Formats: sequence, C-alpha cells, structure tokens
Amino acid sequence: MQTGELYNVVVEKLSNLGTGITRVDGIVVFIENACPKDSLKIKITKVNKNFASAEIAEIIEPSPYRVTPFCPVQKVCGACQIQFADYDYQLELKRQIVQDSLRSIGGIDIDVPLTIPSPDNKVYRYKIQYPVSQTKVSKRLLAGYYKPQSHEIVNIKYCPIQPEICDKIIEFIRVNAQKFSVSGYDEKIHTGDLRHVVLRVSSDSGKVLVTLVINSKKTSKKFEDFAEEIYKNFNEVTGVCLNFNHKQTNVILSENTVCVTGQSFVEEKVLGKTFKIGADTFFQVNPKSAENIFSYVKDEIKKSYSPVVLDAYAGIATFGILVSDTAKSVVSVESNKNSIEKAKEVLELNNIQNVELFAQDTTKYLKSVKRKFDVTILDPPRKGCTKDSLDETLKHTKEKIIYVSCNPSTLARDLKYLTEKGCKLKSVQPFDMFCHTYHVETVAVIEI
Ligand SMILES: C[S@@+](CC[C@H](N)C(=O)[O-])C[C@H]1O[C@@H](n2cnc3c(N)ncnc32)[C@H](O)[C@@H]1O
Repeated sequence: MQTGELYNVVVEKLSNLGTGITRVDGIVVFIENACPKDSLKIKITKVNKNFASAEIAEIIEPSPYRVTPFCPVQKVCGACQIQFADYDYQLELKRQIVQDSLRSIGGIDIDVPLTIPSPDNKVYRYKIQYPVSQTKVSKRLLAGYYKPQSHEIVNIKYCPIQPEICDKIIEFIRVNAQKFSVSGYDEKIHTGDLRHVVLRVSSDSGKVLVTLVINSKKTSKKFEDFAEEIYKNFNEVTGVCLNFNHKQTNVILSENTVCVTGQSFVEEKVLGKTFKIGADTFFQVNPKSAENIFSYVKDEIKKSYSPVVLDAYAGIATFGILVSDTAKSVVSVESNKNSIEKAKEVLELNNIQNVELFAQDTTKYLKSVKRKFDVTILDPPRKGCTKDSLDETLKHTKEKIIYVSCNPSTLARDLKYLTEKGCKLKSVQPFDMFCHTYHVETVAVIEI
C-alpha cells in the first residue's frame, strides 16, 4: 500500500478517536469523517508499519445513518467530529466504543447497555475555551477551535452547540481588543497578549464568567481596562478574570488567576444544590447530562445503608456534596487547592456538615490515613488512575468502587487491574456528555 492510492471500501466501525475503520489487504485503515456502513472510494494519505490513514475521495453510497451536519463549519472545525451521524446512532457508536475498549484492552466481556443521551444535544456546552491568534497583516483577532490535527484556528462566529451569548462575547472581544492594544497570541514565536478566551456559562441563570488568558507574568492597565469594557457591555457577565500564563506550553490555564472586575464565579444548580464555579475549577461541561450521571451514582450509593463515602478526584466536591444527604459522611480529596477553596464555600452555601475536604493527591492522602470507606467514587482525569492509587483504594474500601471515567481506554486498563486483583465488575453504563464528538463518559460499578 502506498500514499495516494485509491481503494473502494465499506466502513466497518468507528475508532475510539472518531475515525472510520476499514481493512485493505489485512491492513487497518483509519478514514477521516467516515461513518460506519459508508461505501467509499478512499485515498491513502499516510502508511505506517501496522496501519494506514486515508481521506474520502468519493462517497459511493452513504451510510443509512449519515445526516447533513447542522453546523456550517463542521468539516473544517475539529470540535464535532461525528456530527454527520444521526444522534441515536451516535449513542450506539459510543456504546460500541466502550464495549470494544473493555474487550480489547481490558479482556472484559460484559454487555454494555445503550448510551444514555444528553437531555439537550444542540446547546449543551457550557464551558468554552477558544484559542486566540491574529491575522498577519491587519492584526485582527481570530478565535475558535483548531482545525483537525492542526493548530490553525477556525474563526468561529456561530457555534450551535453553545449558548448564543458566547458567540456575542467572543465577537465583542475580537472587535474591541485592538482599541485596548491587546494583541492575539502567536504560539510559534511566543509573542502577543491574548492566548485563550475561557467562558463558563451557568445553565441555570445564563450568567457568564469570562477569563482572558494572557501571555504575561502580571497584570497591566490595558488588560484591566479591556476586562472592564467587557463587563460593562454585557449584563450576563458576572465577572472578568485574568489568568497569567507566560510559559511556552499547551496547558491553557496557569495557577495564577485574578478577578479584575465583578465576581470570580458563576453559580450553577444541580439536583437542588448550588455550586460556585471559578475560572480554574473543574466542573462538567454539560451540566444537564452530568445530572444524569450524578443521579445514577447517587442511586448506587443509596443501595448501601448510610455509607461512609470517599469522593476521590473531587473537583469542587460535586459528587461528595450531591451524595451527602444519603451518606453518613463523605471525604472529598482533590489536588487543586483552588477547587477545595470553592468547595468550602459550596458546603457553607448549602449548609452541609458531613463532608470533609482535603487538598491533596489521592494516593498520598490514602497512604496517610487508616480509615476505611464503604464506597469509593473515583473520577480521575483522562489518564486514569495509577496502580498505586488503585492499590490504596482497594486497601481503604470495604464494599464497592464507583468509577466515573471520561476515557474508555484508561477505564478498561484500570478495570483489568482491579478484576485481576479479585474485584467483580457489576455494571457499566455509558453517558453522552459531549454530543457529536467521539467522547463518552462511563460509570462502572465494581464490587470488592
Ligand atoms: C474529571 S475531574 C472530576 C471532578 C469532579 N469529580 C466533578 O465531577 O466535577 C478530575 C479531577 O481530579 C483532580 N486530580 C487530578 N489528579 C489528582 C490526584 N492525583 N489526586 C487528587 N485529585 C486529582 C483534577 O484537578 C480534577 O479536578
């Protein structure tokens, strides 16, 4: 097989990175923008040792699950990779991704039920992080998602998966930055001011927290004046923060954020509790779909009688706070100090007395205590848990682990480890939090 060659193929399934999969002469080929059951003419774009990549040269016969994407820039923008598939079919594809990962990485054969849909699949994204750059000649700001597999910004004026107010605020920033001498960032030569615009919208009130990520170690009058101008122009904006990130890195936010005008948070309501979300605190991007996950986890906790619960990788202790009324007591452990500060405020705001907070690494915390928990909730980042943290979790948990995962591959790896240690995988349930993308959230219940 060689680059540039053409083949007629039928797409077998979707990979866990959202590309179509087919086989040519026994070699696996990944095809961009391909829907399972599409009949295609493909052009090979890259040949590796064990697999190849291809693009669509012609759709000979579209898959019965193909639909016209509702976003005009879906093909060029890298955000909604599978918007060309019917929504119900997306749910089935995500179910298959979880099932395949468990089988191939975890060696686990379990029936995975259909993915629980997001209550909204158009306006569902309440956290937006747009990278910013500027045009070469006129120095106009560009802001939007990157094109697939590149760092070229698609200057998005309208995005149908986020609240309309986000488009308005970002356009205001694009148009007015120059007046305040605020330039767009050039990541190649690490110059310019504005690196990212981060918006957090409350799905409850529609209020927005704006964070400008600045390529600087400290504030200056021009940034503060610009922040004030944004605040003044939008009733919906509760506050504007500056985050100072002067390092040459792909990490969006540094640990240094100041609120220069208004409030440093927005309030979100979930299952009757009020949460304060700051610029750098983790909170689910799709709060309505997250509510389904929180209810599911809470129902699982209710099956134990008045349990003592460990909420590990806690963020602002969302799980801990939401299960506090069914648990005897909860310990929430989170490594980000700012999130724990916000969690303290949330406990006070909701008058919750039975949740203890620890700003610590989960493994270090568990190694430092003798106490045991009836149920442990694990909600790690995409890289999953370390063997050390799983060993400590097993030592400190009596009944079950509820593992909430945003990455089927690392979930499968960690479930393999736990089942090899004698645990029993009781159930696996996928949820759709990021509609039209290949991402899938999964809750696994593991008995010890
Ligand atoms: C997927 S988020 C989950 C947050 C929270 N459970 C929620 O639903 O909002 C993962 C969280 O783990 C935290 N984290 C990452 N590594 C950690 C570690 N080693 N120990 C404790 N927390 C960690 C991150 O800061 C982040 O807040």
